[in-house]
Amino acid sequence: MTTASAPGKIILFGEHAVVYGRPALAVPVTQVHADVEILGSDSTGVLIHAPGINLHADLNTLPSDHPVASVIHNFLFISRISRAERSRSDSEGAVEARGEGKFPNLQINITSTIPVASGLGSGAAVTVALLRALSSYLNYPMTEEEVNAFAYDIEKLHHGTPSGIDNTVVTYAKPVYFIKGQPIETFKVGTPFTIVIADTGISAPTKESVADVRKLWEADKMKWEGVFDEVGEIARAAKEKIETGDWRLLGELMNRNHALLQEMTVSSPELDALVEAARKAGATGAKLSGGGRGGNMIALAEAEKADDISSALMSAGAKNTIVTQVS
Ligand code: PMV
Repeated sequence: MTTASAPGKIILFGEHAVVYGRPALAVPVTQVHADVEILGSDSTGVLIHAPGINLHADLNTLPSDHPVASVIHNFLFISRISRAERSRSDSEGAVEARGEGKFPNLQINITSTIPVASGLGSGAAVTVALLRALSSYLNYPMTEEEVNAFAYDIEKLHHGTPSGIDNTVVTYAKPVYFIKGQPIETFKVGTPFTIVIADTGISAPTKESVADVRKLWEADKMKWEGVFDEVGEIARAAKEKIETGDWRLLGELMNRNHALLQEMTVSSPELDALVEAARKAGATGAKLSGGGRGGNMIALAEAEKADDISSALMSAGAKNTIVTQVS
C-alpha cells in the first residue's frame, strides 16, 4: 500500500492580476488536505473510490478528461515516453522498474477535506497527491519540478488559462511569491501572523471568473493593465512587509486589493458581507481570496481576536472558518 498527501492553499494577494504576469502571494493551508491511498486489488482494472465527490468507478468507464482519470491516463503516458527515451539512452536493465505500459490491478482511494471550487486549491491538491501516490506505487520516481509541471498541465486541461499558482504552492507546500512563467520564489515570514479563512459555501468555478476578467481586459486593455499594475504593487509591498515582520500593515493592503477585485467584478454580495463583518469584528484587513464570486475570503487578525472574528463570520453567513498561522 502507498499513501500520499498534499495541502490546501490560500492566496493572500494578487489573484487574477497574476494571470497577466503580475506577482501574487500564496501560502499552504495544512489544516485541509487531499490524501490518496493505493492498494493492490483482486478485481481487474483500476477502481477509483472518492466518496467526497460520490465517485466509485472503474477507470475505463470515466471520460478521459475527467479530473481524476486524466491524471491517471497522463501519468501512464509520461511514464511510457520516459521509458522509451531511457531505453534508447540507458544501458540494459536500467529502466526495468519504471512505470509499465499497462497498469496492474489497483484500488485508488481519494479523500479530501478541502472544499471543492472554493479557492483552497482542492483540484491541484488531489492531482499532486494522486501523482505522488502513483509515482511511488508504480516505482516511477518524479522530482518536485516534474510533479509541479505535470500538475500545471492538468490545471490547464480543466481551468482554461491558469497562472500555475495553485499547483506551485500545493506541490512545494511553502509560501510562494509567484510570477507566471518564472522560477519558483519562496518568501520568509519575519513574524508569524494569523489569518481567518471563511467559506461562503458557494462553489464558483474559477474558469468563469477568469474568463469574465479576460473579457473586461479585452474591451479596455489600457484600463485593466493599470488595475493589474496596482495589484502587482500591492503584492510586492505585501511581500516586503511580511519579510520585515510588519504584518499589521498588510491589513490596508488587503482592503485595497479587495476594492480592486470588486472593480474586476469578481466579488459577490456574500463575499462583501463577510469582508465587512470581519472588519467590524476587529480584523486588521480583509479580502476575497482566489477566483471569487463565491469560495473563500480571508481576514488578517491579531491572534487573540481570531476566535471573535471567526464567530462574527459564522454569524454573517460563513459556512465554515479556518484559523491558520502563516509562518
Ligand atoms: O480560485 P483559485 O484559488 O484556484 O485561484 C485562482 C487564482 C486566479 O488568479 C483567479 C487564477 C489563476 O490561475 O491564477
